[in-house]
Amino acid sequence: MSTYETNFRKSIDDPEEFWAEAAEGIDWYQKWDSVVDRSNPPFYRWFRGGELNTCYNAVDRHVESGRGDQVAIIHDSPVTGTITKITYRELQERVAGFAGALRAQGINKGDTVIIYMPMIPEAAVAMLACARIGAVHSVVFGGFAAHELAIRIDHAQPKAIIIASGAIEGKKTLAYKPLVDTAIEQSDHKPDKCIIFQRDCVTAELSNSRDVNWEDIIQDAQPADCVPVQATDPLYILYTSGTTGMPKGVMRDNGGHAVALNWSMKNIYKVKPGDVYWAASDVGWVVGHSYIIYGPLFYGCTTIIYEGKPIGTPDAGAFWRVINQHNVKVLFTAPTAFRAIKKEDPKGEFLKKYNLDGFQTLFLAGERLDPDTYHWASDLLKVPVIDHWWQTETAWAIVANPMGIEQFSVKAGSPTKPVPGYDVRILDDAGNELEPGQEGNIVIKLPLPPGTLATLWRNDERFVKSYMEAFPGYYETSDGGYMDEDGYIYVMGRIDDVINIAGHRLSTGAMEEVVSTHQDVAECAVFGTDDELKGQKPVGLIVLKAGVSRDEEEIKTELVQMVRNQIGPIACYRETAVVKRLPKTRSGKILRGTMRAIAAGKEYRMPSTIDDPVILDEITEDLKKLGYPG
Ligand code: COA
Ligand code: AMP
Repeated sequence: MSTYETNFRKSIDDPEEFWAEAAEGIDWYQKWDSVVDRSNPPFYRWFRGGELNTCYNAVDRHVESGRGDQVAIIHDSPVTGTITKITYRELQERVAGFAGALRAQGINKGDTVIIYMPMIPEAAVAMLACARIGAVHSVVFGGFAAHELAIRIDHAQPKAIIIASGAIEGKKTLAYKPLVDTAIEQSDHKPDKCIIFQRDCVTAELSNSRDVNWEDIIQDAQPADCVPVQATDPLYILYTSGTTGMPKGVMRDNGGHAVALNWSMKNIYKVKPGDVYWAASDVGWVVGHSYIIYGPLFYGCTTIIYEGKPIGTPDAGAFWRVINQHNVKVLFTAPTAFRAIKKEDPKGEFLKKYNLDGFQTLFLAGERLDPDTYHWASDLLKVPVIDHWWQTETAWAIVANPMGIEQFSVKAGSPTKPVPGYDVRILDDAGNELEPGQEGNIVIKLPLPPGTLATLWRNDERFVKSYMEAFPGYYETSDGGYMDEDGYIYVMGRIDDVINIAGHRLSTGAMEEVVSTHQDVAECAVFGTDDELKGQKPVGLIVLKAGVSRDEEEIKTELVQMVRNQIGPIACYRETAVVKRLPKTRSGKILRGTMRAIAAGKEYRMPSTIDDPVILDEITEDLKKLGYPG
């Protein structure tokens, strides 16, 4: 058996032994009673009875073992023209200090805290400080509008919200405070405190008794020590798009998460402690949680917090400059970033200015890696380009070329094989296993490995309904695809109403909820279409209420603004067609899949349940006017 097969088989046949060995990479106050508690399926619990502290494992233990003077975080910020380096010792001081300040503000073990910050080191300090005192953080991506933040405030019920005064997004400066104030106004739950980190680029007014300055509250605070928490206690909640306007609050535990991410650094990414590891994403996404903050820090690497874009800050050579300047070994980003670079600099001229000799591997994820981008990146960089597939729910890769175990030859279009721990199967809708090459539902046999979602925050029922009910005994990924004869997995895309725009996960259902509230809209459908740069983008079809005679262009502009205001600019909602009717089944279900196929120019089967087939011809004509299929 190959090294991969030996590892993979052991992880599936004897997960207890496999993960107990991996858990040796983590420091525990107390060892677990059971590696995986199977007593209450589908709720599996890893390392029950174990006690640890996530912040201790990410920070303090490295100082104690002699890495205190090693740089832990490089903040590289082309938008402010600054580069700041923070050693593990300095990070420990800052985190302990801020953790003490949080305590002094009344935040304790088990309390929830929302963090709404851009790509600055204080975002990491805030997350780690929560982990240090056993508080549960929920980071919200800065590109979400006030309404989305309000939804998360109401659901997470944070005792405090930690924000920066603002962000620099490309060439724009955004003030966060007014947005956060609006969100708190909209939410029923009111946090006790709003802790504001003031940045030079924009000053936030302290407008009520809830507001306090970060700098003020750390002045007199006593540094806080790491508190032991149960392995099964929540570390964070991360809201991710589902099929409706109510996002899913993925709950991550402490123990399984630390074990899995620490294991992944060596076995998937093949880095060593001390190496510089760069995930060019955002702390608001799961990639940011796992591979800007926790993974690299657990493993004693140097991580980069990059406050910039792949292009325009200042040019398409930005990534090569960062790799060169900081001696980056591994870069992890989304294919969109590479498509953006390729569009600006197709011949890779900028690369000639930099020395990338130390660069080892490029990892891509977040959306399908199209073969063109794969070939362009590998030809240009001349290092392995590794596609890997995962989800917010899993926190780490389900399918990947595990560079630290064995490197498989790449088949463009496939992220290769299941990672140890993930028993991936392809099932038809009735739950029968499909033959190689046959496309179906990609599912994972339970139990999922450590690090994956323990449940949905305050919603066990939705957890079971969303992931565990369709195929009993399996986790439903909601991605469709197939496995080939060699065991390579091909992920063909979501089979629900979730779309990926520039590597950002968004819900067309949520956009529909916004569009349908427009006074002139009788009914609507929003679905994803292909986009050359961003992978996917949304398009909306609306039916106007009887008697509406306003200028249609005006209505479309209002819809764009409504989606920007309520979900955020990252939804990239720009296109609407006014149609006479929407295609539906006889029971009234809108045929989004069929419209998606028409827009993509793909063959589709006429749904047998369709109410009136003529509507499809009308829709085809309407989509043609918008330029689909492109
Ligand atoms: N805060 C506030 N607004 C944000 C934001 C943030 N953190 N991130 C994006 N936005 C805004 C943008 O300014 C833009 O606003 P606009 O419509 O007013 O211009 C809008 O949201 C859309 O942003 P985006 O889709 O990112 O488009 P872009 O044209 O600004 O940039 C890319 C295009 C390809 C350069 C950019 O999408 C990118 O870097 N993608 C990589 C994706 C990535 O790292 N994903 C992480 C998952 S691994
Ligand atoms: P997120 O939860 O934001 O990480 O988005 C998860 C979704 O992104 C998955 O369900 C997939 O649809 C898609 N995705 C992520 N990585 C890949 C990949 N390597 N190949 C294809 N799709 C991917």
